[in-house]
Amino acid sequence: MSKLQQAGQQVLNWVDERFPLTSTWKAHVSEYYAPKNFNFWYFFGSLAMLVLVIQIVTGIFLTMNYKPDGNLIPGTNISVAFASVEYIMRDVAGGSIIRYMHSTGASMFFVVVYLHMFRGLVYGSYKKPRELVWVFGMLIFLCLMAEAFLGYLLPWGQMSFWGAAVIVNLFGSIPVIGPDLSEFIRGDFVVSDATLNRFFALHVIAVPLVLLGLVVAHLVALHEVGSNNPDGVEIKKNKDPKTGIPLDGIPFHPYYTVKDILGVAVFLAVFSAIVFSVAGFSAEMGGFFLEHPNFDPADPLKTPPHIAPVWYFTPFYAILRAIPSFWGTQVWGVLGMGAATVLIAFLPWLDRSPIKSIRYRSTTFKTAVVLFLIAFIGLGILGALPSTNVRTVIAQIFSVIYFGFFLGMPFYTKNEKPSAPVPDRVTFSTCRQKVMFFVYVAIALGGAYLFAHTV
Ligand code: HEM
Repeated sequence: MSKLQQAGQQVLNWVDERFPLTSTWKAHVSEYYAPKNFNFWYFFGSLAMLVLVIQIVTGIFLTMNYKPDGNLIPGTNISVAFASVEYIMRDVAGGSIIRYMHSTGASMFFVVVYLHMFRGLVYGSYKKPRELVWVFGMLIFLCLMAEAFLGYLLPWGQMSFWGAAVIVNLFGSIPVIGPDLSEFIRGDFVVSDATLNRFFALHVIAVPLVLLGLVVAHLVALHEVGSNNPDGVEIKKNKDPKTGIPLDGIPFHPYYTVKDILGVAVFLAVFSAIVFSVAGFSAEMGGFFLEHPNFDPADPLKTPPHIAPVWYFTPFYAILRAIPSFWGTQVWGVLGMGAATVLIAFLPWLDRSPIKSIRYRSTTFKTAVVLFLIAFIGLGILGALPSTNVRTVIAQIFSVIYFGFFLGMPFYTKNEKPSAPVPDRVTFSTCRQKVMFFVYVAIALGGAYLFAHTV
């Protein structure tokens, strides 16, 4: 050992006597044994952490120049908040890139988290003993939705204002407490400067704090029980009798830290391609990332012709619109939309089959998942379009499928027969891994090509 290494070791020993640094690193990274058969679906957890960091860092820089003030600049119809966003876009060095990273980051967060949740659904990662991992995940999802909604008001554009007005008004349809509740949320009788101030406070500190705490809880719960895998095999059941290490496990570091870097590289290529094309020539990217009316300052006297939320809310918004008003109240739609979100948290108890991975589940379950996916994407598309009679009927059919998937689950998963024998040990096909490797490389090159042609 060189003198420098000795000095480093002494510092580490000094820290370890006072703080569990090495033991924490070992327990959660270098000696955390993860199943050796992770595939690309397992990239999305680390990618969600990456996007969280991007959002926090770009958010801090935006806050340095943003002003949460809904009052109009004298002699204009532009608010101080809207003008501060324009200032960031035009005058702050790198401001437009930082803003587009943050707004595109919000969309990418949902892309990554929806894929992460879908992985959990198909591999049965919500089942015993990972129920709490799932429940913490669902709380994260609710916080993310709140965070995105609150952030969308801040630029104080037309869609910010009217989107917030529509959603906060929905609370007004709750019997008895509704009108007082929506007034309490707004801090005023209409969406106003008071609303903007509280949304800002919640968006920059309150919700992110809760979110970070929940992510820690999510990972602590996961590391307590260990990761699931594409075969749904519990690797802790087969341990080396001498070392106590799972036979199908490999240390998270260096194996998965290195593998995750590949996911990060592919993700960053795609993310940069989008951010630079947004910044370069198509600011709103067909309305998917920022909606056109949000480039107009908020005008409380002019309702935009079509108010729709950003894509990640549209499946739930479509359910809201699909449920008719009975007895003159909209509350059923609001309840339906709430139930559509909360029901996902109950998956661990709705699914009664002991089989975890979709690889071995029955044709009935596989069909149910495909129908659910079609309904969810279909609702997402319908929620983004203005409603017509035909679209409403289709949205109603999709809503029935959506709820049927969850509420019917205790019945169609009871006594489920596996479609193939469930293995005791994880299966690992190097051929499959090689094919997937080329798929990743193709995606990476495609992303790089897009990137090169947009900057
Ligand atoms: C900010 C958002 C989130 C972050 C940063 C995050 C992070 C992670 C990480 C790093 C892992 C381990 C790696 C992996 O399995 O991919 C993981 C696993 C998991 N997450 Fe999340 N997660 C988030 C949101 C969610 C949501 C919304 C859900 C579902 C409701 C969820 C459910 C799960 C489950 C079930 C596992 C275990 C998967 C398995 O072992 O097969 N997570 N998460």
